[in-house]
Amino acid sequence: MTVHFIGAGPGAPDLLTLRGRDLIAASPICLYAGSLIPEAVLTHCPPDARVINTAPLDLEAILAECRRAHAEGLDVARLHSGDLSIWSAMGEQLRRLRAEGIPVSVTPGVPAFAAAAAALQAELTLPGLAQSLVLTRTPGRASAMPPGESLANFAKTGTTLAIHLSIHKLAEVVQTLTPAYGPDCPAAIVYRASWPDERILRATLANLEVTLQREKHAIERTALILVGPALAAEAFQESRLYAADYDRRFRPKSVEGDGDD
Ligand SMILES: C[S@@+](CC[C@H](N)C(=O)[O-])C[C@H]1O[C@@H](n2cnc3c(N)ncnc32)[C@H](O)[C@@H]1O
Repeated sequence: MTVHFIGAGPGAPDLLTLRGRDLIAASPICLYAGSLIPEAVLTHCPPDARVINTAPLDLEAILAECRRAHAEGLDVARLHSGDLSIWSAMGEQLRRLRAEGIPVSVTPGVPAFAAAAAALQAELTLPGLAQSLVLTRTPGRASAMPPGESLANFAKTGTTLAIHLSIHKLAEVVQTLTPAYGPDCPAAIVYRASWPDERILRATLANLEVTLQREKHAIERTALILVGPALAAEAFQESRLYAADYDRRFRPKSVEGDGDD
């Protein structure tokens, strides 16, 4: 018996890894974070699976479900949205399960920032413009930011920012970033990336708020704010990776032009 932590991806049921899908299909119990995971993802569960939405449960109640499954010798698919390495609350569950000797496994998932970048058809690290990506958030009721991790600090990098859990604080985000990025800096909001009702708003920092306010149907919660010069850029340097005169291990100059990577 194992509790399989599985990154359930950004929402679309076909944006799971094959391993994640197969583990869900093989687990008679599924615990899923229902506030972010759409029911469509649950179609991978066996028809007779015990499927439990953990959104209304506290940590102790979730652990109780895992203990019960352990006693019954039944595998659990534990689904969190996106990937498990960021804002999944997996850490505290893993720690408690390990302490109790309940076996666990971890399968990565497609994170929301990657689904949002795909929706925008954007590379977030364009040569000469941005070579880093900051995945961050603003402080929430349950989570203060450690000292040094303020948005104002990350703004000093000038690179691409993917700001999670913050759409309700857009005014504050724009105000904090504008001194460093300037009002004309490209920005975007991607709502429910990969869901059937996905929406994409492109704007500059200066008109991001008004663009959001103009939306007929409110955009709340499951939205990512992306800011940085790479977002709207057409004028960027080409990478050296595919330059004809670039000598690299898999394409020494002697065999250049073979069209391979
Ligand atoms: C608790 S965090 C979970 C992040 C997740 N573990 C990941 O790997 O992306 C939830 C936040 O992620 C972002 N998010 C999650 N799914 C999203 C999606 N499909 N489209 C846009 N943003 C999403 C939103 O900012 C949301 O407030």
